[in-house]
Formats: sequence, C-alpha cells, structure tokens
Amino acid sequence: MGLHRRLVLFGPPGSGKGTQAELLRDREGLDHISPGDMLRQHQAAGSELGRMASAYMDRGELVPDDVIVDMIKQRLQGEADGIGFVLDGFPRTVPQASSLGGMLEQLGQAVDAVVVLDVPEQVLTLRLARRAAREHRHDDSPEVIKQRLRVYWDQTEPVLGYLGERLPARHVDGSPPVEEVYAQLLEALA
Ligand code: AP5
Repeated sequence: MGLHRRLVLFGPPGSGKGTQAELLRDREGLDHISPGDMLRQHQAAGSELGRMASAYMDRGELVPDDVIVDMIKQRLQGEADGIGFVLDGFPRTVPQASSLGGMLEQLGQAVDAVVVLDVPEQVLTLRLARRAAREHRHDDSPEVIKQRLRVYWDQTEPVLGYLGERLPARHVDGSPPVEEVYAQLLEALA
C-alpha cells in the first residue's frame, strides 16, 4: 500500500508541523497548505485581510472561522489534480473541521490520514523561545506563546475527537531530531 497523501497534520504550536510539512512537500511532492503561512503573506503584503488577521494573531487568538474557511476553500480548488496535500494548522476548530468535509466532498476527495505530533509543553516553549530569538516572529513572545498553547488545548485539541469519529488519529513522537520525526511520520503514513 502506498503513502497516504491527503493529510491533516495536527499538534500544538512548536510541535514541528511546518517543518515536517515542508519535508513532505519537498520529498513526497505533497501540496503544503498552511493558513498561518498564508496569513503571514497577507500581513507582509499589507492587505486588508492581513491587517484584520494581525489583531488576532498578535494576541495568540484564532482568526475567525469564516475568514479561514473561505481562504482554505479557495486554496483547495487547485487540488482537483489529486497530487495530495498536507494541511498544516487546519482545521483548528470543530466548525472548521465540519467545513473541511464538505469542501473536499465537492472535489471528490477526502482526508485519508490525521497525524498528531506529540511534544511535551517544556520542549514546545523552548523551541518557540529559540525561534523568537532567531526570527522575531510577532507571536513568539512569552505571553503570546502561553496564550497560543492555551487556545490549542481549549479549542483545537477537541477537534481530534470530532475527526476521530471517522478517522482515528495516528500519533508520532515529535520530540526527537527532525529527521527522526520524519522517518516515524512516513512509517505512520504507510
Ligand atoms: P501557525 O503559523 O499555524 O502557528 P502554530 O500552529 O502556532 O505553529 P508554529 O508555526 O509555531 O509551530 P509548528 O508546529 O508549525 O512548528 P515549526 O515546524 O514551525 O499559526 C499562527 C497563527 O495564525 C495562529 O495563532 C492563529 O492566529 C492564525 N491561524 C493559523 N491557522 C488558523 C486556523 N486554522 N484558524 C484560525 N486561525 C489560524 O517548528 C517550531 C520551531 O521548532 C522551529 O524553530 C523549528 O525549527 C523547531 N523544530 C521543529 N521540529 C523540531 C525538532 N524535531 N527538533 C528541534 N526543533 C524543531
């Protein structure tokens, strides 16, 4: 059996979703779909959407569902050729998860694997603090990191229960070095 190719990559801030999704894009040819990256592109371009999103992102809050769902819907339109995709940071709420099913159904597709990267909270905080020193991402300040983690446990983690009714999640230890996590991820997707 081949690799599952329509993926939701799940995990708290700093768990390595973006890092692993980029490897899946570069090595397996999957389309990397990240609302966080898309919103940061809007911010950099100074668009109205970018300005609106900043008000939420800078506080570590989620951007409203309707905005995110519209953005992902447009992005998924290009998926009709079926090369496969990795959703990194979507869905993050139960309403987003329920919209995803409908969007993919219209394209004649469905998610075929949900993978969770498990990483202890101290490691997450350390990784994000290191990135703050290196890259100055607006939402990597200690207070905002705390809030992003809170939002993950309150609003996003429960999505696993919702998705799990149809597709049980596969758990991967996200703590080891990047290549080790990637090898385990491929095993989980086989
Ligand atoms: P988003 O950009 O998705 O941020 P996030 O989920 O907080 O994730 P991060 O990028 O911080 O972490 P990651 O898990 O991708 O890890 P990474 O690989 O970067 O979202 C930002 C904001 O946008 C949200 O707060 C919200 O406001 C808004 N937003 C986005 N999606 C939304 C949605 N669906 N609905 C509503 N609002 C939404 O790694 C982190 C660091 O660790 C890096 O420095 C990396 O080099 C390092 N690292 C990674 N893996 C390892 C490893 N194995 N060992 C050591 N270091 C590692």
